[in-house]
Formats: sequence, structure tokens, C-alpha cells
Amino acid sequence: MRIAVTGAAGLLGRHVVARAVRAGHDVVATDLPGAPEASGRSVRWRAADLTDLDAVRSVLAGTQGVVHLGGLTNPHHPEPDVHRINVGGSHHVLVAAEEHGLAAVCLASSINAIGGVYSAHPRYDHFPIDEEEHPSYCEDSYSLSKWLIEQQSAAFARRRPDAAFSALRLHGLRADAASARSDDDERARKDLWGWVSLDAAASACLLALRRPTPGHAVYHVVSDRTITRTPSSELAARFYPDVPLRAPLEGNAGFYSTARITADLGWDPAVDHPEIGDAERARQPASSA
Ligand SMILES: NC(=O)c1ccc[n+]([C@@H]2O[C@H](COP(=O)([O-])OP(=O)(O)OC[C@H]3O[C@@H](n4cnc5c(N)ncnc54)[C@H](O)[C@@H]3O)[C@@H](O)[C@H]2O)c1
Repeated sequence: MRIAVTGAAGLLGRHVVARAVRAGHDVVATDLPGAPEASGRSVRWRAADLTDLDAVRSVLAGTQGVVHLGGLTNPHHPEPDVHRINVGGSHHVLVAAEEHGLAAVCLASSINAIGGVYSAHPRYDHFPIDEEEHPSYCEDSYSLSKWLIEQQSAAFARRRPDAAFSALRLHGLRADAASARSDDDERARKDLWGWVSLDAAASACLLALRRPTPGHAVYHVVSDRTITRTPSSELAARFYPDVPLRAPLEGNAGFYSTARITADLGWDPAVDHPEIGDAERARQPASSA
């Protein structure tokens, strides 16, 4: 399968490009002009600014799927830039994907789409948090952009019932569980002591490209264990005493439900996914070009 990866020079983008090549995909890797280029067999590098629709069209031409990771990753930029690059950029990716008839679109959202680490006082209605029912209480420009990206995905999916649109609510990316570990429970309270490994996040991106069912879906991409040794029921009682528990938080269970991504994509939130599973592999051998 020939796929495009935006934000390919970034932290996750580099991982996704390398993993996609190992999984047998031909990759068109794209990032801003001047960004360090991904190189290697089966990788074509195309510099493009996501705010330029024609450039995005050109990058996606001839591809069957796209993993869209490019953009600004926090609200500490001028608000108009966050909107223009994140919301405008994702719109361009979706427009070009529609024009070129891509079968699968995977968009980087964030657990912050419902509000979280950048909120003054994040509001949660229940634990564990699910993707479908929990409302968004986002406030800042970055979280809002991720919420809007999810709405764009849903709208384009309604127009294209044949294609699979997956918005991945990634948690904080870490190399592994050891580097994620922290017992500063106060510090991590806003985004609920979550994390995900780079390998696991890259795996979720590739699985989304092979999703067997069409339509739009939002998925938590979060480890099923927290970063702290403090039992999760104690964390909930201490920091969120008024938030109802819909299911018990046993041991160090995570606060985000991952039932949906496990059911739909076969992604296992309990492992770091160092190995590439069969379900991530390209359907056809990579071309020799
Ligand atoms: N890093 C995390 O912990 C985390 C958590 C949740 C969600 N995410 C999301 O995952 C995605 C990847 O995150 P990351 O940590 O790899 O980010 P990153 O900052 O390392 O990479 C983002 C890339 O986007 C590129 N980019 C920015 N503006 C662009 C533009 N106008 N045109 C083209 N490219 C542009 C940058 O050059 C950069 O290489 C982002 O969408 C981010 O919001 C990241």
C-alpha cells in the first residue's frame, strides 16, 4: 500500500515512517520545507506546507492511505496559527484524500480533545472516559483544534461511506514505561496519569490504515496502566472525588477506556508493541520503485 505520512520529521512521524516501511508500505513522507528528511528504501520525501492545499494534493496523489500527524502540538503558539495550521491543515488533508479516493485516513487527535492538560480545571463526567459519550470541555486553542479535527473527520466520513476515518486520541508519547514513570501525582492529575509508547502509537496508526470497517471513529490510544504506583482508585478519590466511576479502577488501571480500539483494530493497550503484527502489514508487497 502506498501511504502518505504528514509530520514525518516529527517525534511520532519518524517512528511511523520507519515502522510503515518495515510493515511493507511505500511511504510518501512529508513535512515542512527544511525539515530533516526521512530517508531509506520505500520512502519518498516531499516537502510541503499543510496550509497549501495544492501542495497537500500533490503529496497525496497516488496514495491509498494517509497518516496525518503534522501540525502544532500545544497551545503556546499564536491562536490563529494553531487554528490555521491544525484545523486548516487537516481540512486540506481530508479534501485531498477525498479527491484522490483514499481508502483510509488516520488523523492525530489527542486526549486533550475533551480538555485536559491545558485546561485551567479539567472537567470529567465519569471514569473510565469513553470516546463516544464523554463531552468535550476543551478551552485552549490546541485542544479545540483536536476537537475540530474529529468533527471534520466525522463530516467527511458521512460523505464517503466507503472509506475508513480514524481519529486517534493519543496520550503523551514516551519511549517506554520506565521513561513515563512518575510518582508526582499532583503534576499529572490534569491528564489522568496516562501515557503511550511511541511504538504502540505508531502501531495504532498502521492498524487504522487496515481498519476493516468504513466510517468515522475516535479511538483512545493510551496505555491501560498509569504512570504512577498510586492505585487508581486512590487517585480518583483524592483528585476527583465527585466523578462517578462507571467501572472499578483496579490496581493501576488507566482512566481512559480502550475497549473500542481493541475491538475494532485489535490494538492491545497492555503492551508496548515493539514488534509489527500481521494486521499492520501492507496487503500487497511494496513496489520496487
Ligand atoms: N507528542 C505527544 O505527546 C502527543 C500527544 C497527543 C497528540 N499528539 C499529536 O500527534 C501528532 C505528532 O506529534 P509529535 O509529538 O510527533 O509532534 P512533532 O512536533 O514532533 O511533529 C509535528 C511535525 O509537524 C510539522 N509541521 C508543523 N507545521 C507544519 C506545517 N504547516 N506544514 C507541514 N508540517 C508541519 C513539524 O515540522 C513537525 O515535524 C501531532 O498532531 C500532535 O498534536 C502528540
